Amino acid sequence: MTRTALVTGANRGIGREVCRQLVASGLDVVVTGRDADRVSVAAEELGARGEVLDVADPGSVDDLVDRLGGVTIDALVNNAVSYDSSTVLGVDDATLDAAFATNLVGPWRLMRAFLPGMVERGYGRVVNVSSGWGSFGEGLGGPATYSVTKAGLNALTVKASREVSGDVTVNAMCPAWVDSAGSGSGGRHVSEGADTIVWLLTHPPGGPNGGFFRDRTPIEW
Ligand SMILES: NC(=O)c1ccc[n+]([C@@H]2O[C@H](COP(=O)([O-])OP(=O)(O)OC[C@H]3O[C@@H](n4cnc5c(N)ncnc54)[C@H](OP(=O)(O)O)[C@@H]3O)[C@@H](O)[C@H]2O)c1
Repeated sequence: MTRTALVTGANRGIGREVCRQLVASGLDVVVTGRDADRVSVAAEELGARGEVLDVADPGSVDDLVDRLGGVTIDALVNNAVSYDSSTVLGVDDATLDAAFATNLVGPWRLMRAFLPGMVERGYGRVVNVSSGWGSFGEGLGGPATYSVTKAGLNALTVKASREVSGDVTVNAMCPAWVDSAGSGSGGRHVSEGADTIVWLLTHPPGGPNGGFFRDRTPIEW
């Protein structure tokens, strides 16, 4: 049985590499992104289905669900990110809203859209792409909105993992510093950053649920 995975913010960077690895592993993949042209270029190059999805827009999530119709989504990767250089006291409203809508509320809506079906069918994998900068244990580094929304995404991961059953898992991970348009150069290759995501997406029954990983190893919340 061919599984289908949907990845957000997948027109470039780590999300796109996750799609590439999943297609290579034989999964059907839905590449999503907020710009129609960028999505269709990526989807064509990857041999995947492309769909427009702005995770910060509730209507866009609803429209995607409608367009997918009977397509069963077995795996979801919440990868899209809004990144800025904010401080708690200096952040403006637009930056604050974009960060929460993209990094926290969007993943929540997508889980609400796709997790119930996974639970009903008894199989599903959700990976929330987080960051060590969202970890209390690692010191909550990074810009304010990024750090707080990723800490929230970690909390959301734990809460969602407690509402699933059967062979359904919800995990968070940190890819470490990866070269991408958003992070600049000097980090690791996207393939290394994507590895733990793909591992969590494709693990057999009995794998981790409600965990936080880097390089396939649990890390502190
Ligand atoms: N790279 C690192 O060093 C690093 C380290 C730790 C964690 N991470 C995490 O890894 C994930 C991927 O990072 P990356 O470096 O690959 O990022 P990236 O290259 O900056 O790509 C971000 C992606 O998110 C998309 N996006 C932004 N807002 C969106 C929205 N509202 N709806 C849908 N898509 C949206 C972007 O689309 P557009 O092209 O339209 O802008 C782009 O495709 C993120 O969750 C990030 O926090 C990365």
